[in-house]
Amino acid sequence: QVKNATNQIVMNCADIDIITASYAPEGDEEVHATGFNYQNEDEKVTLSFPSILQKGTGTLKIDFVGELNDKMKGFYRSKYTTPTGDTRYAAVTQFEATDARRAFPCWDEPAIKATFDISLVVPKDRVALSNMNVVDRKPYPDDENLVEVKFARTPVMSTYLVAFVVGEYDFVEARSQDGVLVRVYTPVGKAEQGKFALEVAAKTLPFYKDYFNVPYPLPKIDLIAIADFAAGAMENWGLVTYRETALLIDPKNSCSSSRQWVALVVGHELAHQWFGNLVTMEWWTHLWLNEGFASWIEYLCVDHCFPEYDIWTQFVSADYTRAQELDALDNSHPIEVSVGHPSEVDEIFDAISYSKGASVIRMLHDYIGDEDFRKGMNLYLTKFQQKNAATEDLWDSLEKASGKPIAAVMNTWTKQMGFPLIYVEAEQQEDDRVLKLVQKKFCASGPYTGEDFPMWMVPISICTSDDPTCAKMQILMDKPELTVVLKDTKPEQWVKLNLGTVGFFRTQYSPPMLQALVPAIADLSLPPVDRLGLQNDLFSLVSAGTGPGGAACCCDLSCNLGILSTLLSHTDFHEEIQGFVRDVFSPIGERLGWDPKPGEGHLDALLRGLVLGKLGKAGHKATLEEARRRFKDHVEGKHILSADLRSPVAPVFALSQVYVTVLKHGDSSTLDTMLKLHKQADMQEEKNRIERVLGAISQPELIQKVLTFALSEEVRPQDTVSVIGGVAGGSKQGRKAAWKFVRDNWEELYNRYQGGFLISRLIKLTVDGFANDKMAAEVKAFFESHPAPSAER
Ligand code: BES
Ligand code: ZN
Repeated sequence: QVKNATNQIVMNCADIDIITASYAPEGDEEVHATGFNYQNEDEKVTLSFPSILQKGTGTLKIDFVGELNDKMKGFYRSKYTTPTGDTRYAAVTQFEATDARRAFPCWDEPAIKATFDISLVVPKDRVALSNMNVVDRKPYPDDENLVEVKFARTPVMSTYLVAFVVGEYDFVEARSQDGVLVRVYTPVGKAEQGKFALEVAAKTLPFYKDYFNVPYPLPKIDLIAIADFAAGAMENWGLVTYRETALLIDPKNSCSSSRQWVALVVGHELAHQWFGNLVTMEWWTHLWLNEGFASWIEYLCVDHCFPEYDIWTQFVSADYTRAQELDALDNSHPIEVSVGHPSEVDEIFDAISYSKGASVIRMLHDYIGDEDFRKGMNLYLTKFQQKNAATEDLWDSLEKASGKPIAAVMNTWTKQMGFPLIYVEAEQQEDDRVLKLVQKKFCASGPYTGEDFPMWMVPISICTSDDPTCAKMQILMDKPELTVVLKDTKPEQWVKLNLGTVGFFRTQYSPPMLQALVPAIADLSLPPVDRLGLQNDLFSLVSAGTGPGGAACCCDLSCNLGILSTLLSHTDFHEEIQGFVRDVFSPIGERLGWDPKPGEGHLDALLRGLVLGKLGKAGHKATLEEARRRFKDHVEGKHILSADLRSPVAPVFALSQVYVTVLKHGDSSTLDTMLKLHKQADMQEEKNRIERVLGAISQPELIQKVLTFALSEEVRPQDTVSVIGGVAGGSKQGRKAAWKFVRDNWEELYNRYQGGFLISRLIKLTVDGFANDKMAAEVKAFFESHPAPSAER
């Protein structure tokens, strides 16, 4: 539609050559554009017409040539090997945030929605997919080897969600209970590996339909594994694309944490079909809401599909603690950052948007209560369907549904960085307990000394030993200090804040209050998430130098001990902490043993890998010997290791286990064996597992070999980052070598990832382990001369 008479049309366009363009006003003759002026920096083109285009509707036709690129964005090619060993390419798309303009000229902004009629002309033996179902397929007149596949018209949608894929794939299919045709597309010959994701997707669609009380609007949904893929997965409407490791599960060879990861990723991307696709953020500033919400509800969905995973405890040990760790640093940033130029989107593709975003939504859900929360979601999704919305619009809907001051509460969490530390003291007054609460910003570097007094509106639940699983009282702390009276609380009862570790704050108890909690930790009457939260608070208070020492529990401990060992590897205490790790974990290791017990749960399977890995890494003799023996049998094909005992691929868990153990104490023949296993591996899960642990090797020349391998053809471009990261995190020598390698190969790495989010992950992984001012200065100096805008934060 021409809104104001003009002789120019400006649209987004990148790496595209326009051949002809014409505009035909409705019922009138077409006018050909006579000039195409490309503004390459802005990724725009201006079409100039010889006469004025008058107000009104019409048809713009553009004939153009683009490039099927190798950059994993826009319309690109993805390399794969056929079962017979031939190299071939699939053609696939990845448009979010702003790369639809590389596939076709368009107005590439989330708020400019349109319907899309897509046809693809493809070799007739290839699978061709797009957002919608196929409505017509006919021979292509000019070439008998080609067919033209026409897809149904899409609903009104944003460009970043358009997708198409052409390649060779097998699939498995099912119809979900609400009548949607679900297919999982896999590499040829691997259809079996799509069954797990298919089951998850078929359960998830009706779950969301019911949760939002809004049906899935398309007749089909495809989930497809793409060999070369930069992100983890992408929620294109009706055609969701995944890395192979985020979708494929081999019933025999995949580990439990991979299953869990696949379930979470499927749950995440399907949630976007409503939250993101049906209702879309107004602008990239609201990306955090899109991603934070999906990163929360994926857990709700997995909890529904697999209650035995105890997934919320893992949310706390993965997302929540990670978010707090990062958000306590002086260089954190608010969840909501304004995005001016879309090139800044890569910067906010980070743990603050995802994990802190998910954590504050979890807190909000708990504060509102499930029933009103769902009412509010339905209000929001129906009011804005096929349209765009901003963060405030969601707060409005939730406010209407709950009658609570949602915007006021949430603004304190999304518009300022950081989170509070809440000090509590208690005093017994007859039968009542009087609590005094004070909030201050929590800082990893020590007590907050800023001039201002940042303040949060904190929903806080309080329980007592009467019932550790049920809140005795719920309050909204909306000022710096607050006194709370807990009626009928006897002197012998303990009091705990933050039930279920749902509130995004840390708690510092007065020594007597903390002392009173110790028995509840020891006798396990406090649930695991609560023990985990206590442990994590104490650990971080101690390392920030603000809290008392003592108390320990749970599996998050392993992560914190890992941080300690990395720090202490710079000092003389390294051996002592290793001894401590061995002492803490050997009883658990003995209980679990090496082989799965009949009927044991998902959590024990996860824990086994974690604990044996810790013990192996810390040089526990019996574990080491057993690891070597089993590895030998595995390599010789005598007895194949269970995948849970190799190394989990999910980022949720610390890397460790058998591969690490043998590598860490191994030589060049161990490395060669690992590289051979890598070459032979058929599943990307196994290849990744090996890639991530190679860095455990400690001899300098072998470290170099691993680094060279990282950039070789053997490693998929998106995985190079984790090989180098593995070297940096694997040993003290590796840390230095990886940093040197990144500097020496900076140009190649930077070009490879075009300054995108993989570059920032690479930088974080390589410089994370340094702990002195000299190195900090070196890193700083390097980036002053080699800017990486997407990694500035
Ligand atoms: N929409 C994102 C992927 C994305 C975001 C691509 C921004 C480009 C720019 C997708 O929904 C997503 O969040 N993927 C995650 C995996 C998810 C399970 C956390 C990813 O790719 O890491
Ligand atoms: Zn997402």
